[in-house]
Amino acid sequence: MDISAINTVGIVGCGLMGAGIAQIAAEAGFGVVVKELDQPALDRGLVRIQAQWDKAVLKGKRSQQDADIFSAKLQGTLQWSALGDCELVIEAVPEILSLKLKTFAELDRVLAPSTLLCSNTSSISITELMAVLGPDRQPFTAGLHFFNPVPAMPLVEIIRTVLSSSGTIEALQDFVKRVGKTPVLAPDAPGFIVNRLLVPFLLDAIRCREQHLASTADIDSGLKLGCGHPMGPLHLSDFIGLDTTVNVADVMFEAFGEARFKAPSLLKQLVAAGRLGRKSGSGFYRWEGEQRMEPASL
Ligand SMILES: NC(=O)c1ccc[n+]([C@@H]2O[C@H](COP(=O)([O-])OP(=O)(O)OC[C@H]3O[C@@H](n4cnc5c(N)ncnc54)[C@H](O)[C@@H]3O)[C@@H](O)[C@H]2O)c1
Repeated sequence: MDISAINTVGIVGCGLMGAGIAQIAAEAGFGVVVKELDQPALDRGLVRIQAQWDKAVLKGKRSQQDADIFSAKLQGTLQWSALGDCELVIEAVPEILSLKLKTFAELDRVLAPSTLLCSNTSSISITELMAVLGPDRQPFTAGLHFFNPVPAMPLVEIIRTVLSSSGTIEALQDFVKRVGKTPVLAPDAPGFIVNRLLVPFLLDAIRCREQHLASTADIDSGLKLGCGHPMGPLHLSDFIGLDTTVNVADVMFEAFGEARFKAPSLLKQLVAAGRLGRKSGSGFYRWEGEQRMEPASL
Protein backbone atom coordinates (compact mmCIF):
# COMPACT_ATOMS: atom_id res chain seq x y z
CA MET A 1 0.00 0.00 0.00
CA ASP A 2 1.24 3.48 -0.85
CA ILE A 3 1.43 5.90 2.11
CA SER A 4 -0.82 8.32 0.16
CA ALA A 5 -3.58 5.73 0.50
CA ILE A 6 -3.57 6.18 4.29
CA ASN A 7 -6.05 8.89 5.24
CA THR A 8 -7.45 7.66 8.53
CA VAL A 9 -5.63 5.83 11.31
CA GLY A 10 -7.57 3.79 13.87
CA ILE A 11 -6.19 3.31 17.38
CA VAL A 12 -7.59 0.71 19.77
CA GLY A 13 -7.03 1.80 23.37
CA CYS A 14 -6.53 5.43 24.38
CA GLY A 15 -4.33 4.92 27.45
CA LEU A 16 -0.74 6.04 27.83
CA MET A 17 0.40 4.80 24.41
CA GLY A 18 -2.79 4.98 22.36
CA ALA A 19 -3.30 8.63 23.31
CA GLY A 20 0.28 9.48 22.31
CA ILE A 21 -0.01 7.69 18.96
CA ALA A 22 -3.37 9.38 18.27
CA GLN A 23 -1.84 12.77 19.10
CA ILE A 24 1.12 12.50 16.72
CA ALA A 25 -0.97 10.95 13.93
CA ALA A 26 -3.44 13.88 14.09
CA GLU A 27 -0.52 16.33 14.17
CA ALA A 28 0.88 14.70 11.02
CA GLY A 29 -2.42 15.38 9.24
CA PHE A 30 -4.09 11.96 9.43
CA GLY A 31 -7.72 11.54 10.44
CA VAL A 32 -7.71 9.56 13.71
CA VAL A 33 -10.41 7.34 15.24
CA VAL A 34 -9.70 6.10 18.77
CA LYS A 35 -11.71 3.18 20.12
CA GLU A 36 -12.02 2.71 23.89
CA LEU A 37 -13.70 0.25 26.20
CA ASP A 38 -16.12 2.60 27.95
CA GLN A 39 -17.05 6.29 28.06
CA PRO A 40 -14.96 7.25 31.14
CA ALA A 41 -11.80 5.71 29.60
CA LEU A 42 -12.51 7.41 26.28
CA ASP A 43 -13.09 10.77 27.97
CA ARG A 44 -9.85 10.39 29.96
CA GLY A 45 -7.88 9.60 26.79
CA LEU A 46 -9.32 12.46 24.75
CA VAL A 47 -8.79 14.92 27.63
CA ARG A 48 -5.17 13.72 27.88
CA ILE A 49 -4.58 14.46 24.19
CA GLN A 50 -6.36 17.83 24.27
CA ALA A 51 -4.31 18.81 27.35
CA GLN A 52 -1.10 18.30 25.34
CA TRP A 53 -2.32 20.65 22.61
CA ASP A 54 -3.57 23.24 25.14
CA LYS A 55 -0.18 23.13 26.87
CA ALA A 56 1.65 23.60 23.55
CA VAL A 57 -0.51 26.66 22.77
CA LEU A 58 0.10 28.13 26.25
CA LYS A 59 3.85 27.68 25.83
CA GLY A 60 3.73 29.30 22.38
CA LYS A 61 4.93 26.08 20.66
CA ARG A 62 1.72 25.75 18.63
CA SER A 63 -0.82 28.26 17.36
CA GLN A 64 -4.44 27.98 18.53
CA GLN A 65 -5.37 27.47 14.89
CA ASP A 66 -3.08 24.41 14.63
CA ALA A 67 -4.47 22.99 17.87
CA ASP A 68 -8.01 23.41 16.52
CA ILE A 69 -7.05 21.66 13.26
CA PHE A 70 -5.57 18.72 15.22
CA SER A 71 -8.67 18.46 17.45
CA ALA A 72 -10.92 18.39 14.42
CA LYS A 73 -8.94 15.38 13.08
CA LEU A 74 -9.63 13.35 16.21
CA GLN A 75 -12.73 11.27 16.80
CA GLY A 76 -13.50 8.96 19.75
CA THR A 77 -15.74 5.90 19.64
CA LEU A 78 -16.86 2.86 21.63
CA GLN A 79 -17.88 0.93 18.48
CA TRP A 80 -15.64 -1.48 16.59
CA SER A 81 -17.53 -0.66 13.39
CA ALA A 82 -16.30 2.97 13.54
CA LEU A 83 -12.83 1.66 12.58
CA GLY A 84 -14.19 0.17 9.34
CA ASP A 85 -12.97 3.00 7.09
CA CYS A 86 -9.42 3.21 8.50
CA GLU A 87 -6.54 2.26 6.21
CA LEU A 88 -4.22 1.59 9.17
CA VAL A 89 -5.23 0.33 12.62
CA ILE A 90 -2.87 0.20 15.59
CA GLU A 91 -3.81 -1.88 18.64
CA ALA A 92 -2.70 -0.43 22.01
CA VAL A 93 -4.76 -2.31 24.63
CA PRO A 94 -3.07 -3.66 27.82
CA GLU A 95 -0.27 -6.21 27.51
CA ILE A 96 -2.50 -9.26 28.11
CA LEU A 97 -2.47 -11.94 25.41
CA SER A 98 -6.14 -12.97 25.77
CA LEU A 99 -7.29 -9.34 25.56
CA LYS A 100 -5.20 -8.70 22.45
CA LEU A 101 -6.42 -11.91 20.75
CA LYS A 102 -10.03 -10.84 21.41
CA THR A 103 -9.24 -7.40 20.01
CA PHE A 104 -7.78 -8.83 16.77
CA ALA A 105 -10.76 -11.17 16.36
CA GLU A 106 -13.08 -8.10 16.61
CA LEU A 107 -10.92 -6.14 14.15
CA ASP A 108 -10.93 -9.05 11.69
CA ARG A 109 -14.72 -8.75 11.64
CA VAL A 110 -14.97 -5.03 10.86
CA LEU A 111 -11.89 -4.02 8.83
CA ALA A 112 -11.56 -3.99 5.05
CA PRO A 113 -9.34 -6.86 3.79
CA SER A 114 -6.35 -4.67 2.91
CA THR A 115 -6.31 -2.50 6.06
CA LEU A 116 -2.81 -2.42 7.55
CA LEU A 117 -3.09 -3.93 11.01
CA CYS A 118 -0.44 -3.46 13.70
CA SER A 119 0.11 -4.13 17.38
CA ASN A 120 2.01 -1.81 19.72
CA THR A 121 2.78 -4.76 22.03
CA SER A 122 6.03 -4.51 23.98
CA SER A 123 6.76 -8.21 24.16
CA ILE A 124 4.08 -10.53 22.76
CA SER A 125 4.84 -12.41 19.54
CA ILE A 126 3.28 -10.57 16.61
CA THR A 127 3.07 -13.84 14.66
CA GLU A 128 1.05 -15.43 17.48
CA LEU A 129 -1.29 -12.43 17.69
CA MET A 130 -1.91 -12.30 13.95
CA ALA A 131 -2.54 -16.04 13.73
CA VAL A 132 -6.16 -15.41 14.82
CA LEU A 133 -6.73 -13.50 11.59
CA GLY A 134 -7.74 -15.00 8.26
CA PRO A 135 -4.80 -15.95 5.95
CA ASP A 136 -5.71 -13.22 3.42
CA ARG A 137 -5.26 -10.52 6.06
CA GLN A 138 -1.94 -11.74 7.46
CA PRO A 139 0.33 -10.13 4.78
CA PHE A 140 -1.05 -6.75 5.92
CA THR A 141 0.09 -7.20 9.52
CA ALA A 142 3.22 -6.27 11.49
CA GLY A 143 4.32 -4.89 14.84
CA LEU A 144 4.59 -1.12 15.26
CA HIS A 145 6.24 -0.47 18.60
CA PHE A 146 6.26 3.15 19.77
CA PHE A 147 8.08 4.35 22.88
CA ASN A 148 6.81 6.25 25.88
CA PRO A 149 6.16 9.19 25.87
CA VAL A 150 5.20 8.85 22.22
CA PRO A 151 5.37 12.56 21.26
CA ALA A 152 8.93 12.84 22.63
CA MET A 153 10.56 9.51 21.73
CA PRO A 154 12.00 9.39 18.21
CA LEU A 155 12.17 5.58 17.73
CA VAL A 156 9.58 3.13 16.37
CA GLU A 157 10.43 -0.57 16.01
CA ILE A 158 8.74 -2.17 13.01
CA ILE A 159 8.40 -5.90 13.58
CA ARG A 160 8.28 -7.93 10.41
CA THR A 161 6.94 -11.45 10.76
CA VAL A 162 7.09 -14.30 8.25
CA LEU A 163 3.53 -13.28 7.41
CA SER A 164 4.17 -9.56 6.70
CA SER A 165 4.50 -8.53 3.04
CA SER A 166 7.28 -6.22 1.81
CA GLY A 167 4.63 -3.69 0.73
CA THR A 168 3.28 -3.58 4.30
CA ILE A 169 6.72 -2.97 5.78
CA GLU A 170 7.50 -0.23 3.24
CA ALA A 171 4.16 1.53 3.91
CA LEU A 172 4.81 1.38 7.67
CA GLN A 173 8.32 2.78 7.23
CA ASP A 174 6.80 5.70 5.30
CA PHE A 175 4.10 6.15 7.94
CA VAL A 176 6.66 6.24 10.75
CA LYS A 177 8.67 8.89 8.88
CA ARG A 178 5.47 10.89 8.19
CA VAL A 179 4.79 11.09 11.95
CA GLY A 180 8.34 12.38 12.46
CA LYS A 181 9.94 9.22 13.90
CA THR A 182 12.84 6.97 12.93
CA PRO A 183 11.96 3.35 12.10
CA VAL A 184 14.17 0.36 12.84
CA LEU A 185 13.40 -3.18 11.72
CA ALA A 186 13.24 -5.59 14.63
CA PRO A 187 12.84 -9.37 14.79
CA ASP A 188 9.66 -10.99 16.10
CA ALA A 189 11.40 -12.17 19.27
CA PRO A 190 10.09 -11.28 22.76
CA GLY A 191 11.06 -7.70 23.65
CA PHE A 192 12.25 -7.06 20.08
CA ILE A 193 15.49 -5.01 20.33
CA VAL A 194 15.01 -2.34 22.97
CA ASN A 195 13.02 -4.21 25.64
CA ARG A 196 15.24 -7.28 25.31
CA LEU A 197 17.99 -5.08 26.75
CA LEU A 198 15.99 -2.60 28.82
CA VAL A 199 13.62 -4.88 30.78
CA PRO A 200 16.30 -6.98 32.57
CA PHE A 201 18.02 -3.71 33.50
CA LEU A 202 14.81 -2.26 35.05
CA LEU A 203 14.09 -5.52 36.88
CA ASP A 204 17.64 -5.58 38.25
CA ALA A 205 17.24 -2.03 39.58
CA ILE A 206 14.00 -3.09 41.30
CA ARG A 207 15.79 -6.13 42.78
CA CYS A 208 18.48 -3.77 44.12
CA ARG A 209 15.75 -1.69 45.79
CA GLU A 210 14.08 -4.86 47.12
CA GLN A 211 17.38 -5.99 48.64
CA HIS A 212 17.92 -2.54 50.24
CA LEU A 213 21.11 -1.91 48.28
CA ALA A 214 20.23 1.80 48.30
CA SER A 215 17.27 4.17 48.49
CA THR A 216 14.95 4.80 45.53
CA ALA A 217 16.42 8.28 45.04
CA ASP A 218 20.03 7.07 45.20
CA ILE A 219 19.52 4.20 42.74
CA ASP A 220 17.98 6.65 40.28
CA SER A 221 20.62 9.33 40.89
CA GLY A 222 23.35 6.72 40.43
CA LEU A 223 22.23 5.80 36.92
CA LYS A 224 21.25 9.34 36.00
CA LEU A 225 24.39 11.10 37.13
CA GLY A 226 26.85 8.21 36.79
CA CYS A 227 25.74 6.90 33.40
CA GLY A 228 24.07 9.91 31.82
CA HIS A 229 20.61 8.28 31.67
CA PRO A 230 17.84 10.88 31.26
CA MET A 231 15.89 9.29 34.13
CA GLY A 232 16.69 6.59 36.68
CA PRO A 233 15.33 3.03 36.27
CA LEU A 234 12.78 3.24 39.14
CA HIS A 235 11.50 6.56 37.81
CA LEU A 236 11.32 5.00 34.33
CA SER A 237 9.42 1.95 35.66
CA ASP A 238 6.84 4.29 37.24
CA PHE A 239 6.67 6.13 33.95
CA ILE A 240 6.08 2.95 31.90
CA GLY A 241 3.52 1.64 34.43
CA LEU A 242 4.41 -1.06 36.95
CA ASP A 243 1.55 -3.27 35.71
CA THR A 244 2.88 -3.04 32.15
CA THR A 245 6.39 -3.81 33.44
CA VAL A 246 5.13 -6.98 35.19
CA ASN A 247 3.18 -8.09 32.12
CA VAL A 248 6.18 -7.58 29.83
CA ALA A 249 8.52 -9.36 32.28
CA ASP A 250 6.11 -12.32 32.54
CA VAL A 251 5.99 -12.74 28.76
CA MET A 252 9.80 -12.55 28.50
CA PHE A 253 10.38 -14.90 31.44
CA GLU A 254 7.98 -17.40 29.91
CA ALA A 255 9.82 -17.14 26.57
CA PHE A 256 13.44 -17.21 27.77
CA GLY A 257 13.15 -18.94 31.16
CA GLU A 258 16.05 -16.83 32.47
CA ALA A 259 15.98 -15.44 36.02
CA ARG A 260 16.95 -11.97 34.82
CA PHE A 261 13.50 -11.66 33.16
CA LYS A 262 11.58 -12.68 36.32
CA ALA A 263 9.44 -9.92 37.88
CA PRO A 264 10.72 -9.27 41.45
CA SER A 265 8.17 -9.80 44.20
CA LEU A 266 8.41 -6.13 45.25
CA LEU A 267 7.18 -5.16 41.78
CA LYS A 268 4.32 -7.67 41.95
CA GLN A 269 3.34 -6.46 45.43
CA LEU A 270 3.20 -2.83 44.31
CA VAL A 271 0.92 -3.80 41.43
CA ALA A 272 -1.29 -5.93 43.72
CA ALA A 273 -1.58 -2.89 46.01
CA GLY A 274 -2.76 -0.73 43.08
CA ARG A 275 0.50 1.25 43.01
CA LEU A 276 1.01 1.26 39.24
CA GLY A 277 3.34 4.26 39.00
CA ARG A 278 2.50 7.60 37.41
CA LYS A 279 -0.91 6.48 36.08
CA SER A 280 -2.25 5.63 39.58
CA GLY A 281 -0.53 8.45 41.51
CA SER A 282 1.93 6.17 43.33
CA GLY A 283 4.61 3.57 42.57
CA PHE A 284 8.26 3.96 43.54
CA TYR A 285 7.43 7.67 43.73
CA ARG A 286 4.34 9.67 44.57
CA TRP A 287 2.90 11.46 41.54
CA GLU A 288 0.65 14.48 41.19
CA GLY A 289 -0.61 14.19 37.62
CA GLU A 290 2.47 14.33 35.39
CA GLN A 291 4.61 15.67 38.22
CA ARG A 292 6.95 13.27 40.03
CA MET A 293 7.02 13.98 43.76
CA GLU A 294 9.11 12.40 46.56
CA PRO A 295 9.89 8.63 46.76
CA ALA A 296 6.92 6.73 48.19
CA SER A 297 7.42 4.57 51.28
CA LEU A 298 8.10 0.88 50.60
N1 LIG B 1 3.60 1.96 28.82
C1 LIG B 1 4.68 1.94 28.05
O1 LIG B 1 5.72 2.54 28.36
C2 LIG B 1 4.62 1.19 26.72
C3 LIG B 1 5.63 1.42 25.78
C4 LIG B 1 5.56 0.77 24.54
C5 LIG B 1 4.52 -0.12 24.30
N2 LIG B 1 3.57 -0.35 25.26
C6 LIG B 1 2.49 -1.29 24.95
O2 LIG B 1 1.36 -0.55 24.53
C7 LIG B 1 0.16 -1.27 24.90
C8 LIG B 1 -0.72 -0.33 25.72
O3 LIG B 1 0.00 0.04 26.89
P1 LIG B 1 -0.40 1.35 27.73
O4 LIG B 1 0.75 1.62 28.61
O5 LIG B 1 -0.93 2.40 26.82
O6 LIG B 1 -1.61 0.75 28.61
P2 LIG B 1 -2.77 1.56 29.35
O7 LIG B 1 -3.29 0.66 30.39
O8 LIG B 1 -2.31 2.94 29.71
O9 LIG B 1 -3.89 1.74 28.19
C9 LIG B 1 -4.61 0.68 27.62
C10 LIG B 1 -5.99 1.20 27.23
O10 LIG B 1 -6.67 0.19 26.49
C11 LIG B 1 -8.04 0.27 26.82
N3 LIG B 1 -8.74 -0.95 26.45
C12 LIG B 1 -8.77 -2.15 27.09
N4 LIG B 1 -9.56 -3.01 26.40
C13 LIG B 1 -10.04 -2.34 25.31
C14 LIG B 1 -10.91 -2.67 24.24
N5 LIG B 1 -11.45 -3.88 24.14
N6 LIG B 1 -11.18 -1.74 23.30
C15 LIG B 1 -10.63 -0.51 23.38
N7 LIG B 1 -9.80 -0.12 24.40
C16 LIG B 1 -9.51 -1.04 25.34
C17 LIG B 1 -8.03 0.55 28.33
O11 LIG B 1 -9.28 1.11 28.76
C18 LIG B 1 -6.86 1.53 28.45
O12 LIG B 1 -7.28 2.88 28.36
C19 LIG B 1 0.63 -2.52 25.64
O13 LIG B 1 0.70 -3.58 24.74
C20 LIG B 1 2.02 -2.13 26.14
O14 LIG B 1 2.86 -3.23 26.34
C21 LIG B 1 3.58 0.31 26.46
